[in-house]
Amino acid sequence: MTAREATLIPGDGIGPEITAATLQVLDALGIKFDWDEEYGGMAAVEKAGTPLPNATLDSIRRTRLCLKGPLTTPVGGGYRSVNVAMRQEFDLYANVRPTKTIVPGGRYEHIDLVIIRENTEGLYVGLDHTFKIGGDRRAMAQAMSIVTRDGSERIAKYAFEYAKRHGRKKVTIVHKANILKATSGLFLEVSKRVAEQYAGTIACDDKIVDNTAMQLVIKPEQFDVIVTTNLFGDILSDEAAGLVGGLGLAPGANIGSHAAIFEPVHGSAPDIAGKGIANPSAQMLAAAMMLDHLGELEAGKRLRCALEAAIVQDKIRTPDLGGRAATAEFARAVVKRVGS
Ligand code: NAI
Ligand code: MG
Repeated sequence: MTAREATLIPGDGIGPEITAATLQVLDALGIKFDWDEEYGGMAAVEKAGTPLPNATLDSIRRTRLCLKGPLTTPVGGGYRSVNVAMRQEFDLYANVRPTKTIVPGGRYEHIDLVIIRENTEGLYVGLDHTFKIGGDRRAMAQAMSIVTRDGSERIAKYAFEYAKRHGRKKVTIVHKANILKATSGLFLEVSKRVAEQYAGTIACDDKIVDNTAMQLVIKPEQFDVIVTTNLFGDILSDEAAGLVGGLGLAPGANIGSHAAIFEPVHGSAPDIAGKGIANPSAQMLAAAMMLDHLGELEAGKRLRCALEAAIVQDKIRTPDLGGRAATAEFARAVVKRVGS
């Protein structure tokens, strides 16, 4: 494979440490990237006076591909969230979060599911208002949820195509169409129609969101791919991450038609930054998702297998997983497994 151009934002706090560890593993895999390193978050505020410099946006516009570390959101400066700004700028409509049991001995041994969340519509469109009718005492607040046929169709298609590409068997459409008959009803109707195109290849069922929340706790093994609207996906993906324990293991991707950004779910972890003990797994797994996205499925799989072997067989674990390994030691263990 020739070197593929991509934007790299190491990020703030533990970001540079986990990113350095991840680059070592990508090197060991023999996958070549031509990185355009850019700044975001606090690092960008210090260097360029803004958390999201134009140079960073231009770079992603050009490369259409970005591996990103966590960004500290500066407090009190009136900055909007850099992550939300990027999502809007590049219309990153699909938020993809896989959840898998890696460390044995936890509460759930066999979780392996992916939540695909619509990232641009629903209750998060920003139509959230307060009305002051007859003075403050009778103020009323209203939020509007926007669901479109096109938006539902593209996320449902993304979910089924994802399932097909990754050898997944079933997509569960999660909704609240019994109450929200218009918005959630449209999402369900459109998603079911998309499902028909995959009949015989990918199974499909649907579940109401509150039941899904309970089923995730009782019997998470029943889920394979979940596709849902913005708010439900936000809540359920955090719940799912909690089931396997540890932010240090949770990767995420934000995918659009023109760009894709891969990142760990966790933040910049200022409490352990600079100590060399951060778990780089989430960032490494984000890189594996990036390889999948590029069609390098074999390399993505090798990365995941090496990481799991380092944690499970070699028992090299960072402190968040109950071990004593430093970030660099864990990276060496994964590199060694990649080579074996
Ligand atoms: P956090 O995720 O940074 O940390 C929460 C706890 O988890 C801390 O105790 C931390 O040490 C631990 N932790 C997180 N990642 C870890 C890892 N890889 N290895 C070991 N331990 C890990 O959340 P917090 O403290 O609420 O946020 C810190 C900053 O990060 C804030 O400025 C926040 O805005 C930002 N943030 C950025 C995100 C992004 O860029 N996508 C996402 C979430 C938060
Ligand atoms: Mg969230």
